[in-house]
Amino acid sequence: MLKKVLLVLLVLALGGAVVFSRTTESVDFGARTESFYGAHQNGIELPSQANVSVIAFDLNAGVDKAAAGRFMRVWSADTAKLTQGQPVIGDITPGAEQNPARLTATFGFGFSFYEKLGIADQWPIAEKEIPEFKKIDKLQPQWSDGDIVVQIAGDDPLAIFHLAEMLRRDAKPFATVKWQQRGFINAAGVNAGKVSRNLLGQLDGIVNPKFGSDAFAKTVWRKDGGTLMVVRRIQMNLDTWDKLSSAGKTHVTGRKMSTGEKRASQQANAHVNLAFTQMGEGIFRRGYNYDDNYLNGVRQAGLIFISYQESLERFVKIQSKLAEIDALNIWTTPIGSGLYYVPKGLTSQDEWLMQDFLI
Ligand code: HEM
Repeated sequence: MLKKVLLVLLVLALGGAVVFSRTTESVDFGARTESFYGAHQNGIELPSQANVSVIAFDLNAGVDKAAAGRFMRVWSADTAKLTQGQPVIGDITPGAEQNPARLTATFGFGFSFYEKLGIADQWPIAEKEIPEFKKIDKLQPQWSDGDIVVQIAGDDPLAIFHLAEMLRRDAKPFATVKWQQRGFINAAGVNAGKVSRNLLGQLDGIVNPKFGSDAFAKTVWRKDGGTLMVVRRIQMNLDTWDKLSSAGKTHVTGRKMSTGEKRASQQANAHVNLAFTQMGEGIFRRGYNYDDNYLNGVRQAGLIFISYQESLERFVKIQSKLAEIDALNIWTTPIGSGLYYVPKGLTSQDEWLMQDFLI
């Protein structure tokens, strides 16, 4: 009898080992990379990675155009290597680059960057900043603006941390961190290929232009290969949201909570009714959830809303309608806001970020 039990255990253990090795062999999440070079910057037109760290920097006093050019050369070279899992010179944690896990970095520049460097006349966007939405905004300076923003995204938080650290160290003579926001959606391999939920439990990101489509190109890319990035930190009140029934939540959103399917009997001020635009006329949303502990007893949780669009007008059109009467406004409060110009991508290692403006 004992022999039989031992035999069964042995078979189970071996079976387990086979299953385990199969799953670990099939996808090496750490080794996966996203190309850095291209007509457009990376980190935009690709399925969202699991994690993000969005970091804003302000230029140090006295940094001029020539210094900013040296700064951008270093950032370009280091990012090109680290996103591909290759080591960089002077890395004090060698080896940390080895699991890039779809690491990308997307760089944006605010009007203040151009202004400080005396090139305000070259700011490529009609508006200097996002207008205030008085009915909803409770903006805090520690979550807003910044001369430079970097969206570092990837499937591995450690790879993100390492690139963020390297960029921060490179930046020391030139710029200082103003704020950092970390976010997440589903982990790599979980719910793969499907829409993630936000912290209100809604399926978020259903209606978005498809990668590689004409609608995407029309929505996002400017003629100069660049785009505009909007970052809004939107705090959620999870306690009061939880008091709503599932039917109530569906009413507010305009989509069924469990499946995300559109409801015929929506109320006029349901979020999706107001946010609706014809495909190609709207924005591309690429947000992440944040859940950052408590500050003075208040839960710090919500959505790092990130959108890319070829003009600010596209965002403002939607946000103005939402700010007026969106049913969701009761549970959501924008506490941070920033507008950045995202220049075109680099096509070889001879090029560097913002070259056209800084040479
Ligand atoms: C915390 C704040 C927000 C939450 C929780 C939220 C949630 C949602 C959800 C659940 C959907 C439906 C599913 C989908 O199509 O993705 C949706 C759709 C949408 N949202 Fe939001 N959203 C928020 C803020 C915003 C903001 C600030 C904007 C832009 C100014 C925006 C623009 C849109 C658009 C364009 C759609 C697609 C509408 C359609 O054509 O069906 N959302 N949002």
